[in-house]
Amino acid sequence: MGKTKTWITERKQEYYYKKAKAENYRSRATYKLAQTIEKYHFIKYGDVVVDLGAAPGGWIQAARKAAGKKGFVLGVDLKPIEPFEQTYIRTIVLDMTEPDAVQQILSFLPTKADVVLSDMSPNISGVWEMDQAIQIDLATKALGVAQQILCVNGNFFTKVFEGDMFKEYLEKVKPLFEEVKLIKPKASRAKSSEMYILALGLKSHKNVEE
Ligand SMILES: C[S@@+](CC[C@H](N)C(=O)[O-])C[C@H]1O[C@@H](n2cnc3c(N)ncnc32)[C@H](O)[C@@H]1O
Repeated sequence: MGKTKTWITERKQEYYYKKAKAENYRSRATYKLAQTIEKYHFIKYGDVVVDLGAAPGGWIQAARKAAGKKGFVLGVDLKPIEPFEQTYIRTIVLDMTEPDAVQQILSFLPTKADVVLSDMSPNISGVWEMDQAIQIDLATKALGVAQQILCVNGNFFTKVFEGDMFKEYLEKVKPLFEEVKLIKPKASRAKSSEMYILALGLKSHKNVEE
C-alpha cells in the first residue's frame, strides 16, 4: 500500500476511534454495523438479535438502537462483556465451538431469532493462511448456528476474510437465503482483508435444494 493510502487509512481509523469515544460506543466496530443497518434495514424494531463474538459490545449498541426496547439482543463471547443496564440486552460467556452452544443460546431467547450477527475472529497471529482458516471455521460455525436458530425469512450478517476459502464459503451461504450481498463498510479499514456477507431471508428447509 502506498504512503498516501496508509495515511488516509490511519486518519480514518483515528476518526472512527475518536467518534466512538465521543458518542459513548464501546468500539469503532459499532459504525460498521450501524452503516450497514442504515443502508439495508435488516434489523427492525422489535427484532430478536443474536450477536456472536460480541465483546466489548459495540455491535450490541448498534443492534439495540435498531431493535429498540421491544426487541431483544443477546451478545455472546469467549470474553465477559460488561453488562448493559437495559433488561432487553443479555450477554453470556460462551465458546461457540462448544458442542451445546446452540442449545445454550436458544435457552436465553424469547423466540427464534430474526437476525444473527457474527463478528467472531481469532487473535490475529500474522500467519495469514492460519488466520484465514480459523476465521472461516468461525464463520462456518456462525452459519450453522444461524440455520438452527433463525426464523424463516431471518437475516444473517457475518465477517469473513477475503482469500481462497472465501468463495467456497459464499457458495454455502447463497442457496440458503433469498439474497446475498458482499459488504465493505466505510468504517472498515481499506487495507484489511476483512469484509462482510449480508444474507437476507432464510429460506424454509423445504425451499432449499438438497
Ligand atoms: C472483532 S471482535 C468483536 C467486536 C464486536 N463486534 C464489537 O463491536 O465490539 C471479535 C470477537 O470474537 C470473539 N471470539 C473469537 N472466537 C470465539 C468463539 N469461539 N466463541 C465466541 N467468541 C469468539 C473474540 O473473543 C472477540 O471478542
